[in-house]
Amino acid sequence: MSTKTWTAVDNYIVSSLFEADPVLDAVLAANRDQGLPAIDVSAAQGKLLSLLVRIGGAKNVLEIGTLGGYSTIWMARGLPDGGKVVTLELDPHHADVARANFEQAGVSDKVELRVGPALQSLETLAGENAGPFDLIFIDADKPNNPNYLAWAMRLAGPGTVIVCDNVIRDGAVINEDGRDANVEGARAAFSFIGDDKRLDGTAIQTVGAKGYDGFAIAVVD
Ligand code: SAH
Ligand code: DHB
Ligand code: MG
Repeated sequence: MSTKTWTAVDNYIVSSLFEADPVLDAVLAANRDQGLPAIDVSAAQGKLLSLLVRIGGAKNVLEIGTLGGYSTIWMARGLPDGGKVVTLELDPHHADVARANFEQAGVSDKVELRVGPALQSLETLAGENAGPFDLIFIDADKPNNPNYLAWAMRLAGPGTVIVCDNVIRDGAVINEDGRDANVEGARAAFSFIGDDKRLDGTAIQTVGAKGYDGFAIAVVD
């Protein structure tokens, strides 16, 4: 089994279960044209995020790591009328591309994009008494995972769902040698969720068009 098979099966999932989606196709094309790295979630994963928003009845979503807004758009689509995604992005170019993509996808009224280091934006949000957020998706610089999880706990309430992306990394998560900062970030997410008494969590390994990785998911008591 290889990424080739996993990609073919991802294509099967999309063609069997999803409507044709010229808007999201255009978003990915815009990201490519603007030189953004293709590290967005896959379509199947994006749909899962959208379903999690719907299943949980989330109205108030926080995303850390926007890139071109592909995952943001999926989550915005799961929101009820009046719902909102606050999404945090460091890179002004990524933010510009995302803003145009939100327009293209017709979700601008549901998305608030804040540009700058997420740790600063999170502090600002806390100062504004933002939250509690119903769902928090962490998908930015992996070494900051423990800091983002700590902020997520401050901006959460009972029942808040926290999803942390890229915590398996080709299975490297079980390497303890500490040589890869992204892997250490994944391990730090496991330690945080395992140690925090208010969090009940699991992790799911995934294969697909984006290779072998996975996400952690936890709920706040
Ligand atoms: N969630 C997106 C992918 C995000 S990729 C999707 O699935 O479509 C990770 C993003 O985090 C990149 O755009 C990167 O610029 C951003 N990022 C990296 N460090 C950051 C920081 N300190 N604060 C905010 N965003 C950061
Ligand atoms: C990387 C980041 C991501 O958010 C992702 O989904 C895949 C890879 C990375 O920085 O390598
Ligand atoms: Mg990711």
